[in-house]
Amino acid sequence: MLPNKVTISIIKCDVGSLAGHYIVPKPLFNVAEKNLKKAVEKGVINNFYIFNAGDDLELLMVHEKGEQNQEIHKLAWDTFKECSNKASQLKLYAAGQDLLKTAFSGNVRGMGPGVAEIEIEERASDPIVVFAADKTSAGSFNYPLFRIFADPMNTAGLVIDPNMICGFKFEVIDTKENKSIILKCPEEMYELLALIGTVGRYVVSRIWRASDNLICAASSVSKLSLIAGKYVGKDDPVMIARAQHGLPAVGEILAPFMHSYFVQGWMRGSHWGPIMPVGLKSSKCTVFDGPPRIVAIGFQVANGQISCDDEGKPLIADMFDDPAFALARREAMQNACTMRNMGEFEPARLSAEDMEYTTIQKVLGKLGDRFKPLN
Ligand code: F6R
Ligand code: MG
Ligand code: MG
Repeated sequence: MLPNKVTISIIKCDVGSLAGHYIVPKPLFNVAEKNLKKAVEKGVINNFYIFNAGDDLELLMVHEKGEQNQEIHKLAWDTFKECSNKASQLKLYAAGQDLLKTAFSGNVRGMGPGVAEIEIEERASDPIVVFAADKTSAGSFNYPLFRIFADPMNTAGLVIDPNMICGFKFEVIDTKENKSIILKCPEEMYELLALIGTVGRYVVSRIWRASDNLICAASSVSKLSLIAGKYVGKDDPVMIARAQHGLPAVGEILAPFMHSYFVQGWMRGSHWGPIMPVGLKSSKCTVFDGPPRIVAIGFQVANGQISCDDEGKPLIADMFDDPAFALARREAMQNACTMRNMGEFEPARLSAEDMEYTTIQKVLGKLGDRFKPLN
């Protein structure tokens, strides 16, 4: 029997939110729920789970149509459109914020919504963790992805499990030049770090196990400001990681989040902010529009769908809803306070290069004529 091929798609969009850029309110969930239910009935997708990362609506869909499938992307696009219409009716804030184009053209890539997808051959048991973050940007997964798939001090399996000792291959996108490169760890670890430490430019997009090219992870790489030419909201990213049995264990995938780390984003997409791992109930940004939050959804893929309970409801593990991440949350708040004490001075504010695509250009533009050459 041929192995079962199944695709996991997480497609997200800021369609408008409640109380500024805070959360996706219930009426928008209802629209998305209705549309995706219909898609299940029509056999377009097998099942789904909808959640929010702060002001971003996250559609997690499992289907058999492969990656970058037009029907799946159109389903997401139409759903986001309908949600943003509802958001406009309710006069929610920034309705349709991430829908940068007016008409769908086959694929949501480059149109505003963020997407991460992997097509897998279902293993005997396939545990998956999907991450979604708010008030941050595409490169914010570089650090944890490196820790998970390349750092033996994080992932014991790289040392202990013979199936992992061969290492992993990383695809890195240069978001400025629109180019990609594949680097293999451990051999090219230093070169990889030399690139992906520049989180505002180089983004890890896919990871494979080196021994057999098994796909292990995918993350969204869109930079909305590069599409629109100006700041249009943060590129709040999503990421999928496959776990266990010759891949990093779920616990190794979560281990980088024992501590907070700094990401680009936060207020007006213009600041370094500490990431805060939270359960779904705390998936909302408040102070200084943050601190940037991240949620992690764990599930099993079974027989072409997210495995379900007896009533057909997807079985979902809210991984960061756990006191084990309380220290990271505390660190995040402590670091948030340290950074905010710096006000609009670097390193609290992003560097000039990373500010290039924000509205600060308008402010600086006005001063241009007033600069006089020094004698
Ligand atoms: C946007 C965001 C916010 C806004 C800020 C100002 O994704 O996260 O930090 O940039 O609230 O928003 P406006 O310009 O809409 O008043
Ligand atoms: Mg928003
Ligand atoms: Mg957002």
